[in-house]
Amino acid sequence: MAKFYITTPIYYVNGLPHIGAAYTSIAADVLARYHRARGDDVHFLMGTDENAQKNVEAALKSIPSPQSSPEGVEDGPSERRPRGGKGEGETQEIVQKYVDAMAAKWQETWDELGLTNDDFIRTTEPRHIKYVEKFWRKVEAKGDIYKSVYEGLYCTGCEAYKTESELIDGKCPDHMRVPKKLSEENYFFRLSRYRDALLKHIDEHPEFIQPEARRNEIVAYIRDHAVDFSISRKNLEWGIAVPGDPAQTIYVWFDALLNYISAVTPSPGFQPSSPSGRGEGEGWWPADLHLVGKDIIKFHCAYWPAMLMSAGLPLPRTVFAHGFFTVDGQKMSKTLGNVIDPVALARKYGNDVLRYYLLRDFAFGEDGDFSEVRLRARYNGELANGLGNLVARVLTMVEKYADGVIHNPTQPPLILRGGDRLVPPLKVRGGEGELWSQYESYIAHYQLDRALDTVWQYMSELDRYIDETQPWQLAKSGKERLFAVLYTLAEGLRHIAWMLIPFMPETARNIFDQLGLGTAEVKKSFKDAQKWGGLKSGVKIERGDSLFPRLA
Ligand code: MSP
Repeated sequence: MAKFYITTPIYYVNGLPHIGAAYTSIAADVLARYHRARGDDVHFLMGTDENAQKNVEAALKSIPSPQSSPEGVEDGPSERRPRGGKGEGETQEIVQKYVDAMAAKWQETWDELGLTNDDFIRTTEPRHIKYVEKFWRKVEAKGDIYKSVYEGLYCTGCEAYKTESELIDGKCPDHMRVPKKLSEENYFFRLSRYRDALLKHIDEHPEFIQPEARRNEIVAYIRDHAVDFSISRKNLEWGIAVPGDPAQTIYVWFDALLNYISAVTPSPGFQPSSPSGRGEGEGWWPADLHLVGKDIIKFHCAYWPAMLMSAGLPLPRTVFAHGFFTVDGQKMSKTLGNVIDPVALARKYGNDVLRYYLLRDFAFGEDGDFSEVRLRARYNGELANGLGNLVARVLTMVEKYADGVIHNPTQPPLILRGGDRLVPPLKVRGGEGELWSQYESYIAHYQLDRALDTVWQYMSELDRYIDETQPWQLAKSGKERLFAVLYTLAEGLRHIAWMLIPFMPETARNIFDQLGLGTAEVKKSFKDAQKWGGLKSGVKIERGDSLFPRLA
């Protein structure tokens, strides 16, 4: 059984989940579900990045005074920070309480959106902190950590140093704030030592950084700018202490990237689930896919692989960076008040509709623009009039002309002539041919929007097939041809539902139910499900409510 270990970025908890984070997470969920449907051994990891200074700022801002409870944060048990975590004082308590409450909210959001992550890692957990310490020591022993004075402009928004040339009017263009001037003695990581090895790896593994445009960007960055970077900060009250030097705190990105391994590594009191047949522990690593936004590829495609090389660990197979979207043409920001809440949208339209819109409207890997107006247009055009209508149309005919029973004709499907077009049943059947291979090839290349497009094209074909074969006419002259056509249509719906499992899981189940297949169908393997003829003769359909009632 192939293993598939997939991760999303771990998100900062200085705010509630917004649609950008939901986009990455939903896309990862689609891929995780797809691989599970194929029968792969899947581990899907999500989590929260809690040791960042921006979380500290948010925590302190959220309370009127240190005595009272943070706004919107319920009093709850606050785990004691494990050894290695820094700051014993008041700030630490406030921040811990804040991150506890926020992490719970992030988890709730993903649960409400129906995401199927197998684990959720918080970087304040002992299993993570222990691993970070162990890793630091390894890299230190390799001679890749040294102390030096650093002077630079630090943007807490990015949690990174900025060069003068990256600033606009002295401000970080992404966060519109003036970075802090820092000058202190820090620990550095010898990234420059790995420059050639990184370029070689990227060159020899075209699948490592995708899409291609991002690969070119990273190659240029590594070639021209990859210098040693600071991996600690002095006198911070929050974060993981540098082993052996508690006055220094490990740089939050150095710590955060390690979540991808800490979550699958056993430590005292923690045993990760292991992929079947692979033994305990580190069997999940290396990750098969890190899904990230394009804003953080430098960290994932330069810093991270160099850190792994230093520690002598294998590199992830692929880092795929998707694009960023604006909202109605504008950058999403709290100041503009256009931050979209994914939960509110999902409650209004349903989880599947949100998933469909996000994955269909944006070419995966490219930038896009989010618009609720377009979401509604796609809903009415493609879900209500498209999918919902096709399902209702087919099942109504099965009820009307075949007493609601599927008949699987024994002879090979008929070649039917409709209008002036010959309808090749094999094309309509799709089952073993083109349709599935196209769909799977798109997913293998992360072209999720195109995979959906393939399904919708197939729906149009089935619609045309109805128009051309005219079952209502066939019903007047014997049952044989009629049943063959109805079977082709109903079996076509079964294939559509299978292709929708990763994208619209609730809808897929609903279609199975309406086809009279129920939960037994989803227990099949993807391979068996792809064969033509899965619908058995004699099955009674159970036509239900319309899948997507039209929006006014
Ligand atoms: N904590 C780091 C990641 C550490 S991973 C080891 C971080 N967190 S974040 O909360 O800022 O999340 C950034 C990610 O959120 C992006 O990479 C992307 O996946 C997602 N997005 C945030 N805004 C987005 C858009 N406007 N559009 C698309 N994705 C967006 O960076």
